[in-house]
Amino acid sequence: MTQLPQTIRWNEGTLYLLDQTKLPLEVVEEKQETAEQIWNSIEQLKVRGAPAIGVAGAYGLLVAIQKNTGLNKEEFLQKIEEKADYLDSARPTAVNLKWALDRMQNSAKLFPGAESKDLYKHLEEEAIRIHEEDVQLCLKMGVNGVGLIKEGMGVLTHCNAGALATTGIGTATAPMYLAHQSGVKFRVYADETRPLLQGARLTSWELQQSGLDVTLLTDNMAAHIMSKGLIDLVITGTDRVAANGDVANKIGTHGVAILAKYFGIPFYVACPYSTIDLNTTEGSEIVIEERKAEEVTHFGLRRTAPEKIKTCNPAFDVTPKELVTGLITEKGIIRAPFGDNLSKEYL
Ligand code: MRU
Repeated sequence: MTQLPQTIRWNEGTLYLLDQTKLPLEVVEEKQETAEQIWNSIEQLKVRGAPAIGVAGAYGLLVAIQKNTGLNKEEFLQKIEEKADYLDSARPTAVNLKWALDRMQNSAKLFPGAESKDLYKHLEEEAIRIHEEDVQLCLKMGVNGVGLIKEGMGVLTHCNAGALATTGIGTATAPMYLAHQSGVKFRVYADETRPLLQGARLTSWELQQSGLDVTLLTDNMAAHIMSKGLIDLVITGTDRVAANGDVANKIGTHGVAILAKYFGIPFYVACPYSTIDLNTTEGSEIVIEERKAEEVTHFGLRRTAPEKIKTCNPAFDVTPKELVTGLITEKGIIRAPFGDNLSKEYL
């Protein structure tokens, strides 16, 4: 696999994020200096994808508290909580952000030392562990999912659950990268993913850079392409899996899952444990991020809809568990009954 740019880089106490809003035209890193800047980078999707915003949140918290190590331990812990809550408010749907910030806070609370400087160092080690773990989780999902991809297959994906959405080889793309590496010849179809074009700008770019056979589709082409027999398998990522197996993912995923069911195509969802939220009973409880109207009324900077038109812009939808063939996780492929099998693995 060609070396793709790192989505997140922590270098001696400084955080750099690849600005994904500029891809594929420019590959630019942005140094992150304040909590506000990091909040904006997450909200504006400079860093995006569920696992990546978890890792960015963990490092982001370090940046946010870096100048406060002069406080006593109790005040420092309060500051950590305040900044974690603030960063968590940047995006509501992907549970990984909250998961990583909660993990950092729990680790802070359990730290036995008395000095804030030592606590900061301890948290830095925890953030690095979260980062390194993400790389390994991606690899494990790849190993567990690679067998699904057979010679000659067409594999459809939606949005970007690729290397750019993680700090490793992606979730949905992990089996694709490993299959490609082992010489399996298959085709990937990437939905462009309106309104923000993660499929066009990111998935098709990273797979092309890595030498995979990838074809870009607009979202409304999926049914037609499936009807031609070109798709044998769908793999997407997810932002949150509820305890019953319902999955939230990029808007349009639900439609793809319905199409897959109609055409008898297996529909798999890849995710690490940090995306599985057993505290959410079912998909209807998942908060769906609503984004600004301009993303719908404009194509890039160009207005493509009448002034004052009413819009809606949910960034995610929920695919009911009945449409999911299996969850590709670091522990293996989890199948129905999802409620029982998820709690068996993750409770
Ligand atoms: O709005 P985005 O670009 O953050 O949405 C990303 C997705 O929907 C991904 O499919 C999901 O986060 C899984 S990433 C491995």
